[in-house]
Amino acid sequence: MTKNEVIDPWSSELPENYKKIIKDFGLEKFDIKNFPEPNLLMRRGIVFAGRDLKIISKCIKEKKPFYVLTGIMPTAEKLHFGTKSVIDQVKYFQKHGAETYVLIADLEATATRGLPLKEAQRRALEIHIPCYIALGLNPQKTKFYFQSKNNEVRNLAFILSNKATLNEYKAIYGNPEPSRIMASILQVSDILHPQLKEPIPGIIPVGIDQDPHIRLSRDISKRAKEFKFFQPSSINHKFVPDLLGNLKMSKSEGNSLYLLDTDEEIKRKISKALTGGQKTLEEQKKKGGNPDNDMLFELFKQHLIDDDKEFKKRIKDYKEGKILDSENKKYATELLQKYMKDFRKKYEEAKKQIDKFILNT
Ligand code: TRP
Repeated sequence: MTKNEVIDPWSSELPENYKKIIKDFGLEKFDIKNFPEPNLLMRRGIVFAGRDLKIISKCIKEKKPFYVLTGIMPTAEKLHFGTKSVIDQVKYFQKHGAETYVLIADLEATATRGLPLKEAQRRALEIHIPCYIALGLNPQKTKFYFQSKNNEVRNLAFILSNKATLNEYKAIYGNPEPSRIMASILQVSDILHPQLKEPIPGIIPVGIDQDPHIRLSRDISKRAKEFKFFQPSSINHKFVPDLLGNLKMSKSEGNSLYLLDTDEEIKRKISKALTGGQKTLEEQKKKGGNPDNDMLFELFKQHLIDDDKEFKKRIKDYKEGKILDSENKKYATELLQKYMKDFRKKYEEAKKQIDKFILNT
């Protein structure tokens, strides 16, 4: 990706060189010292950058009000296991005092993917929102809303639409379609609307593909002087490769884990995962494996082994040939099956009570 290249937030092409991204897009490097009780993703270098992070760290330390917000287009029938990373980030800020907003981007799904609104809403209620709750958001402390049912957000979008120009759009997005213009202004409004009652800092955890929306939100927030908005902050995490090590979204579902996968699916997928092991058992015992190119270690690192000591020891043992791929696979399968069992239970519970949790259906 070169300096003048734009990121297209609606495409599944993924940028790979993170240092270059920080430089080219004027991001701040994430500094773990500023965040108390850092979570797994922060401690293990998955969270790598952001914008205006100091003000958020100050709010946490001084117990001042701030918010965290995320949104999802309810297009998929199942949620990628990597969704857990975004929610882990939201949970971190929720735990550290943030007002929490989770929106369902049903209008964006209709505008950019042609999904009928009713169907988008059904998927959100049956899949996305219960999954988000099962991932551990506190539903009592989380404001869930649908874009299509939130007048405040839609009205603000119209007000903000005259704070952006077509040239700016071209610079940020390349050549935007009207549907994308509508969706991105709405997203800016999602991001800023928690400040309508009172301007407070807010943080948006996003993959780097969503950075164009963050830049636009920051620009517009400054120009909309009548609101005295804080410019929204963002925090970025790296993309998760699939089980075969591909960074680009693969067409075949068999290479990725999904929330609600069954025990058999987990077992089958893990058995085929890319590992850093040697060709033969003998060689593995002698030379050890390479955890850097091993998708089981990716899972341990990001999701399955929270304890830093245990994680480090496993890396060491693997490098020294004391752990074989078969053992890692068995362990990852066990941990995932256990996780999913608990997840499924929470999901079913959340689904039953879903009406209680949504602001405006
Ligand atoms: N554009 C996001 C997606 O593709 C969804 C979204 C809408 C969003 N509004 C948002 C994400 C506000 C973060 C913040 O899934």
